[in-house]
Amino acid sequence: MDSFIFHNPTKLIFGQHQVQEQLVKQLKALGNRVLLVYGGGSIKKNGLYAEVTSLLSDGEFTVFELPGVEPNPRLTTVHKGVEICKSEGIEVLLAVGGGSVIDCTKAIAAGAKYDGDAWDLVTRKAPVEAALPFGTILTLAATGSEMNAGSVITNWETHEKYGWGSPFSFPVFSILDPRNTLSVPKDHTVYGIVDMMSHVFEQYFHQQTNTPLQEQMCEAVLKTVIEAGPKLVENLENVELRETILYSGTIALNGMLQMGTRGDWASHNIEHSVSAVYDIPHAGGLAIIFPQWMRHHKELGERKLVNLAVRVWGIDPTGKSNQEVAEEGIQALEKFWSSIEAPSRLADYNIDDSQLEVMADKAMVNGEFGNFNKLNKNDVLSILKACL
Ligand code: NZQ
Ligand code: ZN
Repeated sequence: MDSFIFHNPTKLIFGQHQVQEQLVKQLKALGNRVLLVYGGGSIKKNGLYAEVTSLLSDGEFTVFELPGVEPNPRLTTVHKGVEICKSEGIEVLLAVGGGSVIDCTKAIAAGAKYDGDAWDLVTRKAPVEAALPFGTILTLAATGSEMNAGSVITNWETHEKYGWGSPFSFPVFSILDPRNTLSVPKDHTVYGIVDMMSHVFEQYFHQQTNTPLQEQMCEAVLKTVIEAGPKLVENLENVELRETILYSGTIALNGMLQMGTRGDWASHNIEHSVSAVYDIPHAGGLAIIFPQWMRHHKELGERKLVNLAVRVWGIDPTGKSNQEVAEEGIQALEKFWSSIEAPSRLADYNIDDSQLEVMADKAMVNGEFGNFNKLNKNDVLSILKACL
C-alpha cells in the first residue's frame, strides 16, 4: 500500500436524541451568529426544523436562514449564502439536510472567507485558504458528506458540475440520529443505498498492492448494505435498519476505506457530467453507469470482479472461467439494484444519444481520468453508449 496520513477532524455524534443532547453545546463553542442552511422543506414536514429552531432560540444565538438548497446544489444558492455570511457577520453555519445541503454549506463556508467568486474555489482557480466553521445534522444516508471534505456544486448557467474539497471543508461536528432519516421516501432511500455502494466500489478498484484489509473492509460494508438495504426499502420506518444504513453511508466515504490506496472515481466523474446536462439524481446516474464501467474493465479488473462475485455475491466459481464469474458478479449487482427499483438505463430518464458527445467532453475537461484505469474520450463514449 502507499504511505499515508489519515486525519479526519469531524466529530461524529451518532445516535437517537443526539440533536437534543448535543446541538446547543457543540454550536456554542463555534459562535453565536448562525446561518441555518436547509433544503426544500422536508425538515419542516418531519418536525426537525421546529426542533432545531426551538433549541437555538434558547441558546443566545442570532439565527439567519438560507432555505431552498436544491438537490444538486447550485452556485446561485452558494452566492446567496456567501452574501448573508458577509453582510451579517455570520460566525458559524449549521447544515440541516442531505448531501446537497451539506455540500452547499461547505462552499458557502469557504466562499465567505474568499474575496472573489466562490466558483473559483470549486474550479480550483483559487486555493481554499480558510472557511467559516460549520456543523451538520444529517437527514439522508448517502453521500458521506457529513464526515468528509468533499462538496459537489453545479453551475447551471454553464452546465458544469464539479467536486472540490480542502482541509477546511470538513464539518466540525455532525449529528446523526437515525430517526431523522425515517421520513426519507423510498426513491431517495434507494438512491442512498446505490450511492454508498458506489463509493465503496470506487475505492475497491485501485492499483495499490498488498491491501487485504482495505479490500475486506470494503466487502464488509457492501455485504452489510446488501443485507439491510432491501429490508429497509420494504420497511422504511424501521429505525434499526435506518441506523445500519446511516452508519454504513458514513463509513463508506469518510476516508477509512481509502487509507493507503487511491480510489478510481471515474464513474463519479462520468455521472457528474450526465447530471450537469440532465439534472438527474446523482445515484440514479451511478446505478446506470457503474455496471457498465465494470464491464469495460472486465479484463483489467478481473481479480477484483471475481472477488466481488464470490465473496460478496456468493457466486460459486466451480467450473467457470474468471471472465464468466466476473460477468455473473456484474449481473448480480444489476439484479440487486433492479430489485430495489434503481434505474438501469439512461432511457429510464428519457436520455437518448443526442448529448453523448457533450457529456463526454464535460467528463474530459481535465483530461484523462480514473486512478484504476485512465479513461479517454472513446472509453467514456463507449461506457455511455452501453448505458443507453
Ligand atoms: O430538499 P429537501 O426538502 O430537504 O428534500 C431532500 C431532497 O429532495 C430529500 N430529503 C432529505 N432528507 C430527507 C428528505 N426527504 C424526507 N425526509 C428526509 N429526512 O431528499 C432529496 C435529495 O436530497 P439530497 O441532499 O440532494 O440527496 P443526497 O444526500 O443524495 O445528496 C446528493 C448530492 O450530493 C453530491 C451529489 O452529486 C449530489 O449533488 N455528492 C456529494 C458527495 C460528497 N460531498 O462527498 C459525494 C457523492 O458522491 C455525491 O457526488
Ligand atoms: Zn456518490
